[in-house]
Amino acid sequence: MHLGFRGKIFVAIFGVAAACLLLVATLVSLSLPEQTYRRIEQSLVSEAHLVADVLSTHERDLPSGAIESEAGRIGKTLSARVTLIAADGTVVGDSMVSGATLSTLENHATRPEVLQAKATGVGISRRYSHTIQTDMLYVAVTIDHPRMTMVRLALPLTEVQQQVASVRHMTLVALGVALVGALALAWIASVLLGRRLQAIASAARRFASGDLSQRVRDYERDELGTVARVLDDTVRELASRVDELRQDRARTDAILTGMVEGVMVVNSQGRVQLVNRAARAMLALDDATVGGHYLESVRHPGIAALLTDTLEGRQPPHLELSPARTPGRRLVARATPVSAPSVTGAVLVLHDITDLRRADQVRRDFVANVSHELRTPLTAIRGYVEALTDDPASVEDRARFLDVIARHVSRMERLVRDLLRLAGLDARQEPVEQSTCPLPGLLAGAIADLATIIESRRQEVTIGVAPEVTTVRTDPQKLQDAIRNLVENAVNYSPEGTRIRLDARQNGDRVAITVSDEGPGIPESDLERVFERFYRVDKARSRESGGTGLGLSIVKHLIDVLGGQVWAANRPEGGAVFTISLPLG
Ligand SMILES: Nc1ncnc2c1ncn2[C@@H]1O[C@H](COP(=O)(O)OP(=O)(O)OP(=O)(O)O)[C@@H](O)[C@H]1O
Ligand SMILES: [Mg+2]
Repeated sequence: MHLGFRGKIFVAIFGVAAACLLLVATLVSLSLPEQTYRRIEQSLVSEAHLVADVLSTHERDLPSGAIESEAGRIGKTLSARVTLIAADGTVVGDSMVSGATLSTLENHATRPEVLQAKATGVGISRRYSHTIQTDMLYVAVTIDHPRMTMVRLALPLTEVQQQVASVRHMTLVALGVALVGALALAWIASVLLGRRLQAIASAARRFASGDLSQRVRDYERDELGTVARVLDDTVRELASRVDELRQDRARTDAILTGMVEGVMVVNSQGRVQLVNRAARAMLALDDATVGGHYLESVRHPGIAALLTDTLEGRQPPHLELSPARTPGRRLVARATPVSAPSVTGAVLVLHDITDLRRADQVRRDFVANVSHELRTPLTAIRGYVEALTDDPASVEDRARFLDVIARHVSRMERLVRDLLRLAGLDARQEPVEQSTCPLPGLLAGAIADLATIIESRRQEVTIGVAPEVTTVRTDPQKLQDAIRNLVENAVNYSPEGTRIRLDARQNGDRVAITVSDEGPGIPESDLERVFERFYRVDKARSRESGGTGLGLSIVKHLIDVLGGQVWAANRPEGGAVFTISLPLG
């Protein structure tokens, strides 16, 4: 049978108490009868002496008839049998026997107690009395009296046995009561101790399962209290360490997750310990990567070789690569060995340099484009200037040549002006001067400069401003420049005699300004590219119209500076529509 701690305590306490009680009870019941006999014997001896003393002092001259009745009187007083014996052993008085029967009594000279008293002064004997037919205790003492030499007192042993039995009974009752008391005390003690211990045990179990929030809190000034306090202190310490670790971990996780660089940590056995989000995305890794071998998850042979080399103690140079799944991206991978006290292995760091490379490409393209755009007018100017200097032509030719030269110069001027403006906007050198301005006036102002060309192309521009967006808070000059550029394009790229619409309406907390035309529209694939520098859908046509391909790029920069967006789309019914979206306030 399995006993809990409570059961064990109970059994121990109750067992000890019961054993002690039983031992005491046994000792008591063993020594009790003898002690009781002794005590009764002693008092019987004292009483006998007292009787002898009284008789020898005060009743020396008793007649023989009076002796008999005297024995009866004393016997009644003492509740004992009194026998008075003469020197020759004949009984001269007995409280139990009277008259004629007395003379028939046996001679008592040979009774053991009488013999013993004769020798030592006091005789004691336990035996069966044929006279009154019961077990008796006899005590005899000598007496100094002219008519008798011995006084004997006798008590029936049944009385003595009754006394012993009652004492024994009392002892048993006391034992029973004491055992019940011990049972109750043992139970209370075991419950109290058991409860405290159980609290400690269940707290320990909670701690083991990782719940460190609740404490034992039972700090009595005993060993259990000490155990509880030590446990609580340990757990408090542990909880704060765990908390620190958790915070550390959360910090590290936050840093790793927030990093744009991809990070992968591999231990010395090649098992992946950690991969951050960026690395997962760059190398197209799944959740099963962590814990597995890097050769199973990293599919790029170059990166695998980089890690292998690093783990084998070499120091490979960094690697530039394009992931197989996203060939458009460029990554730089670096691996360095780690040898912290708890981990050894390698850390792989991946930088995405796609934007860097693209910016590089844009810069190169830009320089090439600028050079090209400048060379064309310069070549033309140089040709005409040479023609003018080499061969003095007719006056009309001269005027025509100079006119061409002037056109190319102004085109170059425009180009340089646009480039400078773009550079200025790019570097945010143009200050933004915000003011609240009426939108209809602003839109009308934007097309005012284009009135001549609109008229010459027999086009019609209609302005529609929704009543809820009559004013807008912005830099009016920049917004006007942007709209003028869009309207200019609409005028240039749509056929003569078509209509152009300029609308403004509210869209949530923003205002949307659209320029739509009835021209050819823009091929879907070019809708985003038209905002790039020098990008023209139809190079020949644009150049013919004097365009440099910088107009929409400037528009995009202007709207950027104003905190808005601009995009191009095609209308379902044909024609392009450009939308500028600006915050209202
Ligand atoms: N409304 C439009 N309809 C059709 N195509 C357009 C329209 N607006 C612009 N495009 C196309 O987008 C290209 C880029 O326009 P952008 O304004 O940047 O340059 P550009 O007009 O050629 O020269 P610039 O405006 O610098 O004088 C144009 O060359 C043209 O092909
Ligand atoms: Mg343009």
